[in-house]
Amino acid sequence: MARRARPHSVVTARAALVLLVLAGCASEPSSPADGPPPTEAQTPEEARVEAAVAAIDSMRAARAASISPDETVDAETFARVCKPVGMRARALADSTGWTVRQAAIRFRNPANAATPAEAALHERFEADPALAHVWADAPGGRLYARRITVTAGCAACHGPRDDRPAFVAERYPDDRAYGFQPGDLRGVYAVFVPAQP
Ligand code: HEC
Repeated sequence: MARRARPHSVVTARAALVLLVLAGCASEPSSPADGPPPTEAQTPEEARVEAAVAAIDSMRAARAASISPDETVDAETFARVCKPVGMRARALADSTGWTVRQAAIRFRNPANAATPAEAALHERFEADPALAHVWADAPGGRLYARRITVTAGCAACHGPRDDRPAFVAERYPDDRAYGFQPGDLRGVYAVFVPAQP
């Protein structure tokens, strides 16, 4: 009898855990309905993903902060601030086999328009300002997302529509990435890491 009591209590504990998890999900309308709950980095490779994305993000923030108030903001400024982010993302993808994206709902480059999975993650960040980054299972691997926050320097190119540098209005006729204020969610870095064979 005592033998049967133990598995029974384990089952009960599991059931309670499932209920807790379900209750947690129910009180969190922002979580994507069609995916398992997010988890932390689980492997050294995933820790490398987090470090690489953090380095790219701080590079952009530091360079945006270096724009001086009296400088003319033009394509040269872009080549120093936001363009290197796209270049580093591509280089990182080439050297690792990961897919590295900057996804946005209000995008400037249509190639960065969020996919449905990225949009669901974007929604989570929007709903939970304390959420900095998240891992989620995805078909064939794991998807990492980290919030992209607008800082004061970003306003030089992502601020009011009429204040955008001329090159932006010319090159991006379909631009939606303006009107942001410091602290706003600008988008997400989204890195897909394929499962190891
Ligand atoms: C000098 C102008 C300039 C500054 C300053 C700037 N950006 Fe950008 N940003 C651009 C341009 C131009 C693009 C489009 C790049 C492309 O064609 O892929 C862009 C694209 C992006 C994207 C990719 C998604 C999209 O909309 O296409 C993100 C994310 C982004 N910027 C965030 C930021 C953040 C955060 C800051 C401040 C830390 C910032 N930018 C500062 C000009 C700028």
